[in-house]
Amino acid sequence: MIISALKSSDKLDNRSPIHPDTVSALTKLDADIYFEEGIGEGIFTSDKDFQELGLNISSREECLKNSDLLITNQPVTVDEISSMKSGSTLLGMVNPFSNQALIDACVTSKINLVSMEFIPRITRAQKMDVLSSQANLAGYVSVLESANLLSTALPMMMTAAGTLKPARVFVIGVGVAGLQAIATAKRLGARVEAFDTRDVVEEQVNSLGAKFVKIDLGETGQTDQGYAKELSPEQIQKQKDLQSEVCARSDIVITTAQLFGRPAPQLIDNKTLEKMRPGSVVFDMAVESGGNVEGSKLDEVVIKNGVKIVGFSNLASKVAGHASLALSNNFNHWICDFHDKEANNIIFDFEDEIIKSSVLVYDGNVTNERFK
Ligand code: NAI
Repeated sequence: MIISALKSSDKLDNRSPIHPDTVSALTKLDADIYFEEGIGEGIFTSDKDFQELGLNISSREECLKNSDLLITNQPVTVDEISSMKSGSTLLGMVNPFSNQALIDACVTSKINLVSMEFIPRITRAQKMDVLSSQANLAGYVSVLESANLLSTALPMMMTAAGTLKPARVFVIGVGVAGLQAIATAKRLGARVEAFDTRDVVEEQVNSLGAKFVKIDLGETGQTDQGYAKELSPEQIQKQKDLQSEVCARSDIVITTAQLFGRPAPQLIDNKTLEKMRPGSVVFDMAVESGGNVEGSKLDEVVIKNGVKIVGFSNLASKVAGHASLALSNNFNHWICDFHDKEANNIIFDFEDEIIKSSVLVYDGNVTNERFK
């Protein structure tokens, strides 16, 4: 079996789908492991380092053409799919919701497509959950980037030159990213408040020493996978109105509110932004899925009445070393769990919940209900 790892095709993505500390999980398999030259540039790992760990260097073209299993942290192009071996498998982060062309190309070329975004939220699959591993790091980065844009410090400091008040941070959306943002802001000494439509998170917010803001929106709740249910337009309006006072008193607002597979809800509008103090920062972590903040722009800092609206994308890439370590572990767990030693290949058993959810295309057919 030939397994190859592709270098990120996005110049802004420093992550690598393989990492020197985790690659032994793959080299233990009875497989030839290849990697695209330069794959470790963003994590300060040379081709020679990977070669010394028993991997073989190759060009992107050869990786695509010869592999039975290709690992990638960015979608590949439709042309690249057509150069892959029929019956081979593409596994990685492939952004399936906005990439129908990739799904169609996999059907046509009989490439099995495994979308790591579709790992189900069950205990057994936590070790493969790329969304969580990357969101956790993104939450951490969002606080550091926001702090860098403030003209004040985060902790309270009592100095001979006067008392400096702690910064106030408000986190909207307390999933994986939001929880890590709260923990990071607390560690830096900020006063933290948070809100989520799933009231089950109140206890988690309190346990981190932050304050849960109570906003009664009527019936909200979560799906069986733990994702938030969509709010009605009236509920969104009520949320905007009631949380605007909290935004107005905050130095940093971090929004992480997402709806799986659907555009993010807009939660902060110009009316709220107008109430905020010049110099404060609004960090829109949902910018890649439509944005929580009116006027946020991908990879830009937009300034409105002195308020900085930040729309940086791929935050995990800013801590690419750890992001790659976690990501490669997620990928390796999927591969090792479904690699059969005797067949020396991946076994696609659609009775398995993880296979059923994460495999979108198999043997020329769309297998995941959502994309049929
Ligand atoms: P996400 O990235 O889809 O959304 C982020 C957060 O935004 C969620 O907490 C959501 O409730 C919140 N949100 C949505 N609309 C909102 C609104 N209008 N106002 C305020 N907040 C809003 O969610 P994420 O981070 O992927 O996780 C959601 C839950 O799933 C978490 O409780 C997490 O712990 C759980 N989880 C469970 C796993 C497992 O059992 N294997 C694995 C990963 C996460």
